[in-house]
Amino acid sequence: MEKAVEPKKTFEGNYIENFSDKKDGEFYPSSIANFYQDGQAFYFEAGDTTLELKVYSEKIIRFRYANFELFEDDFSYGVDDNFQPEKVAIDFKEEPEHFLVATPEVKCLISKKDLRTKILNKDNQVIQEDEKGYHWMEEKSFGGNVVISTKKLQQGENFYGLGDKPGNLNLRGKVQQLWGTDFYGFQKDSDPIYKNIPFYLGLHHNIGYGLFMDNTFRSFFDFGKERQNVYSFWAQGGEMRYYFIYGPDLLDVCRSFTTITGKPELPPMWALGYHQSKWSYYPEKVVRDLGSKFRKKKIPCDVIHLDIDYMDGFRCFTWNKDHFPDPANMIGDLAAKGFKTVVIVDPGIKIDKDYWVYKEGIKHDYFCKGADGSNFRGSVWPGLCHFPDFTNPEVRTWWSGLFEGLVNEGVVGVWNDMNEPAVFEEGTFPFHVRHDYDGHPCSHRKAHNVYGMQMAKATYMGQKKFLDNKRPFNITRSAYAGVQRYACVWTGDNVATWEHLKIANRQCQRLSVSGISFAGSDVGGFIESSDGELYTRWIQMATFHPFFRTHSSGDHGDKEPWTFGEKYEKIVKKYIEFRYQLLPHLYTAFWQYATYGTPIIRSLHMLNQVDSDTYHRKEEFAMGDNILVCPISSPGAEGRWLYLPKETWYNFWTDELLTDAGEVWVDAPLEIIPFFVKAGAVLALNPVMHYVGEFPVAQLNLHVYHGTVENKSTLYEDKGDGYEYKDQDFKLKQFSFSGEKKSLTLKQEVEGNYNTSYNTYLMTFHGVVFEPRALSVDGEPVNFKFDKAAKTCVAEVKHDFTELVLS
Ligand code: GLC
Repeated sequence: MEKAVEPKKTFEGNYIENFSDKKDGEFYPSSIANFYQDGQAFYFEAGDTTLELKVYSEKIIRFRYANFELFEDDFSYGVDDNFQPEKVAIDFKEEPEHFLVATPEVKCLISKKDLRTKILNKDNQVIQEDEKGYHWMEEKSFGGNVVISTKKLQQGENFYGLGDKPGNLNLRGKVQQLWGTDFYGFQKDSDPIYKNIPFYLGLHHNIGYGLFMDNTFRSFFDFGKERQNVYSFWAQGGEMRYYFIYGPDLLDVCRSFTTITGKPELPPMWALGYHQSKWSYYPEKVVRDLGSKFRKKKIPCDVIHLDIDYMDGFRCFTWNKDHFPDPANMIGDLAAKGFKTVVIVDPGIKIDKDYWVYKEGIKHDYFCKGADGSNFRGSVWPGLCHFPDFTNPEVRTWWSGLFEGLVNEGVVGVWNDMNEPAVFEEGTFPFHVRHDYDGHPCSHRKAHNVYGMQMAKATYMGQKKFLDNKRPFNITRSAYAGVQRYACVWTGDNVATWEHLKIANRQCQRLSVSGISFAGSDVGGFIESSDGELYTRWIQMATFHPFFRTHSSGDHGDKEPWTFGEKYEKIVKKYIEFRYQLLPHLYTAFWQYATYGTPIIRSLHMLNQVDSDTYHRKEEFAMGDNILVCPISSPGAEGRWLYLPKETWYNFWTDELLTDAGEVWVDAPLEIIPFFVKAGAVLALNPVMHYVGEFPVAQLNLHVYHGTVENKSTLYEDKGDGYEYKDQDFKLKQFSFSGEKKSLTLKQEVEGNYNTSYNTYLMTFHGVVFEPRALSVDGEPVNFKFDKAAKTCVAEVKHDFTELVLS
């Protein structure tokens, strides 16, 4: 089971250094000689360059730069089909020094002298300003351009985003590259790795904004590394095309980014449960025993993943019949116990004249070709392979059809791997490989960074086609911006070390703000072996990650909840159980993400962007509204220092109250991960289940956290699968809390027709510092139990109340 080590770099890239002065070989726009307007698009011609500035909304403006008047076809894999310009009241003016394009939110000045741009908000604060601005260099080895944009670094500016980069969250002072790479055992400073998300967030003077450079060539972002007062981004081909997104709220920037690149649909609820995986569980008996062990030990689990060894010689869409003689029967039996089966697929199709997928691919000419016209050949798990050109819509349709058999056998989820695309030894395809690029034929230089996303799309289409109105579950390793429309992601081949627990934490935060909330890591580490403590701490953290899966290479022993002995098993079990309790909260956060694009995981600077103490924090994060966690990330810890943003928080485990605490020490022996709930919050918790839908919830637990504050909480519920929710079959509850010293009021507003399985809430009020005399629900007195020592008050309340007062 040897793996390709760090891929050989076939091209070192055109790294540009010290370009403080305009240099030989750099080309610049000249002064503006002509301009015209077409609806909400404005064109400025300046020598060999034309700038198209298009207003999409009051806060979103796109910039495109053409050389020699030739804009590329306005096509993008990143942009969602539903993204269209909104009608905006635009003020367009010519002034002595510049042109002005202003929306009610932002003003853009375009210098007549050299086409440089400057963006201000309505309070005339500079948000972003060109330094050298747009320019280009000739890339003579392929006869095209490197397109570059340089901007002035604003005072105190910080940067976030860019997908799965494993280093510090704050990117200031860093150079990062986007060129999807299969990076076995990547480390903190490894770059590039699997995903290509050319979107960053900037924050200065408390103002947040974002920039999405929609260019799929190998690209770079330098956030003030080469020159301290400048940042820049560039791509080794294509046109300079970027969307500027104004906040000023960082969470709004994230939301707008998904307005451009799309939002996911709701996943099946089971996909938010716990997943167990290994490379590989086989034969059938091992898989069945695994399932039985989970149920016998009463450790919740919804999903079992089958890695490449389920296949016949690593041929996708086949089964190894020695190991899995009757897959439908096995999957059916697992399903009867509440398990869903997910299988892996890879893009490499084995060259084998007796293999039906290979034969179809050859017959219809679906494989990628090299420049000389023959099918490109590369070696992956099955040996020599050809690779479908997923950038060809016909090929995607074909690929989607291949899932019929697997779906009929009961497979409900698919895991797309090696789609950077990875090729042993060489790393990836050579540049000369040709792609259709949806009717815009090009070389691999342009298609590389979207190949994986298009494979994920083709797989998603297959699931949609055959799953009979059930919601697909699809995972991908490689990605381009917008991949969230088709799949969730995991962070690739990490290592069982404490450093990697921290990396996984940062990656999930970073992916979340980059449009991809549905992310997780190989819990416990893929490579090498963790000990019980590391595994337990990782499980605790991943309890709060939207995708929660243990996966390991299997080379270094097993990694299952019971692997490290009873002491650890007990705690791991408690947290997996807790994950199932948290599902109403997580599902609500997912609904917010699917509806508004709000990231599920939110870094500290997203919670309080005016507090500069949050700008360099890395480990604390929120999962949805009102809750905050901070994983334990070093061995032997009995607690840790962490930072609580201003506001009042309850320690979930002790109900200790912390107000405007800032940096605090929190005790966290092995069974505890520091976890806080905001005062005024309503936290909905399910009873423990061993898989989603094990039994109908008879009563929902609502935990209400008192404080002299006002706060809002949301609870979204539906069937957890299918699409009826699009037709009002959901319940959306908005809770408004307001607390006084000696009373609290909770109002509930309900929307939608879904019938929940329960009729009552079991309500627990925390932090009841006064002696309550009455609980009134819609004007009627209701019995309650008050525990003075614990400061809690418990009552059973009808689920459809509109107003409740505890006083
Ligand atoms: C790749 C994947 C890993 C998988 C292995 C075998 O390394 O990243 O998750 O187990 O291939 O398919």
